Amino acid sequence: MRTKVLKALKESKNRYLSGEELSQKIGVSRTSVWKHIKKLKDEGYNIESVSSKGYRFVEDVDLLSEAELELAIQNVSLIKEVIYLKSVDSTNTYAKKLSDTFIDGTLVISDEQVEGRGRLGRQWVSPPGTGIWMSMFLVPDIAPHEASIITQIAGAAVTKVLSETLGLDCKIKWPNDITLNGKKVCGILTEMSSELNCVNYIVVGIGINVNMEEFPEEIKSIATSLYIESGEKHKRYKIIESILKEFEVQYTKFVEEKDLTQVINICRGKSALIGNEVRIVRRNKEIIGQAIDISNEGELIVKYENGEIEKIFSGEVSVRGINGYV
Ligand code: BTN
Repeated sequence: MRTKVLKALKESKNRYLSGEELSQKIGVSRTSVWKHIKKLKDEGYNIESVSSKGYRFVEDVDLLSEAELELAIQNVSLIKEVIYLKSVDSTNTYAKKLSDTFIDGTLVISDEQVEGRGRLGRQWVSPPGTGIWMSMFLVPDIAPHEASIITQIAGAAVTKVLSETLGLDCKIKWPNDITLNGKKVCGILTEMSSELNCVNYIVVGIGINVNMEEFPEEIKSIATSLYIESGEKHKRYKIIESILKEFEVQYTKFVEEKDLTQVINICRGKSALIGNEVRIVRRNKEIIGQAIDISNEGELIVKYENGEIEKIFSGEVSVRGINGYV
């Protein structure tokens, strides 16, 4: 119901809506409307109340709330349920812990993570009120070996939104990082539970540094945010909605038709690695090569100094630039 109140207020743009109008529109009593408005205000929304006119929504805050996220997933049929948390250890850990109770298409979003996780056991800094920390719980009918491409589907979706919607020139550092001006702005952590031949579930965790003004000293040189790079604060729910829509299109194409054309085009076209020297770190051994392409299946193609060419499957290696992060 609160979602409907929020929707009606947003749709009325700058116009005041009286309690009576709202109660008729939504089909609840004026007292109930008042209670929902109070709750929305308590959550931090700026809603003006003028006794002779009614209520007016002032869109000046970047807030996540259950109602806001319910609205964001309304046109994304892949997402069936959304769970919004103020704080959690990690949205991926939460989804994995509750996997027995989750349905395919459950989205977990938290305003803060206190034990956010990155790839290879790394920590993911996830302070409150500034970033997108979300995990999609999915049960695709695919073979376990196909699962790693879902990281790149998510990466392509994020990249498309950041570049086409927000006009930011981001790059994909194969397979799971998105960078802006050479620093990391988004990381993707895909985890899976499977049997030999079938996937029980996949958790696709996406972390985006949106409105942070600064980073801890330890990661300052490699991490950035959309705000730092664009000079503009962004509404997280809008970015979430656009990414989910884009992800749905590409994920469905892959699961239903095995079509990765657009995903690979984006990963190639926006690659931070192709044409550059890279260090491939595998089981504590480091080899230097040149990233020459991304295959149609999403592997990184590397040429070594001895002329040998290898297709690298994501997950088995860590890829680093020669000078620094990318
Ligand atoms: C990486 O760059 O190594 C991956 C980072 C993934 C971070 C996201 S934030 C949402 C989800 N929950 C986590 O604990 N991690 C992922």
